[in-house]
Amino acid sequence: MTSPSPHLPRLIAHRGLSAHAPENTRAAVRAAHRAGFHWVELDVQLLGDGTPVIWHDSGMKRCSDGRGKLHKMHLEQAREYDVGAWFSAEFRGERMATLEEMLSLISRLDMGLNLELKVCRGRDPIALAKAVVPQLLEALPFERRLLSSFNYHALKQARHMAGPDELALGVLCKKLPQQWREKMDTLQAYSLHTDWKQLKEKRARMVKEAGIPLLCYTANDPLAFGPRWDWGVTSVISDDPQRFMD
Ligand code: G3P
Ligand code: MG
Repeated sequence: MTSPSPHLPRLIAHRGLSAHAPENTRAAVRAAHRAGFHWVELDVQLLGDGTPVIWHDSGMKRCSDGRGKLHKMHLEQAREYDVGAWFSAEFRGERMATLEEMLSLISRLDMGLNLELKVCRGRDPIALAKAVVPQLLEALPFERRLLSSFNYHALKQARHMAGPDELALGVLCKKLPQQWREKMDTLQAYSLHTDWKQLKEKRARMVKEAGIPLLCYTANDPLAFGPRWDWGVTSVISDDPQRFMD
């Protein structure tokens, strides 16, 4: 019997369709869906009150009209801020999404999700995994979910909560580590996710030969990316995946 695997497409919209809508919002997920993409990558972290929310940075400044650190906020405070208008007036009124709300949208749209456990400096990776994993397992079927992180402890906790037949895990790294095989094995991980600019042909081909899905972030230039498809890259995570369609 072969083990199940997520149905990963070649192109995944990074933080939603973030070249065309404010990143990590419901609007960005709807935009990805409208543009014909079936999977999105989103970041998740905890507010101070323990609510998992879809957000990349440790603070509000870059992607909202507010200020403050997420770990010092409760949900009502975070919702006061507009998270769309910084991108363009068309998205004015957009509010931060909780993980629960986002999962419900993705499920309704029949989409797949690569959810990144974003462990900001000083934050607790275990608490994050504990809050996120049950919601993810509940909301989406195995084939449409993939949980990734740069943080080993977060992934280890996730694996402790769900076996490889229940939840596929992705190991995120800047550059493929020499010990990639050992890392994958200890976590019983499914995929490797690397910065496309750091990817070297020899190592990419070794990963391919091992039959391990190799994902590259965040590639927005299909010409520069070019030969990496032949090296064995399975999927590209892009802010603007439409560019790869031609
Ligand atoms: O999951 C791939 C990519 O999102 C990792 O980096 O900083 O964009 O979350 P970042
Ligand atoms: Mg991310």
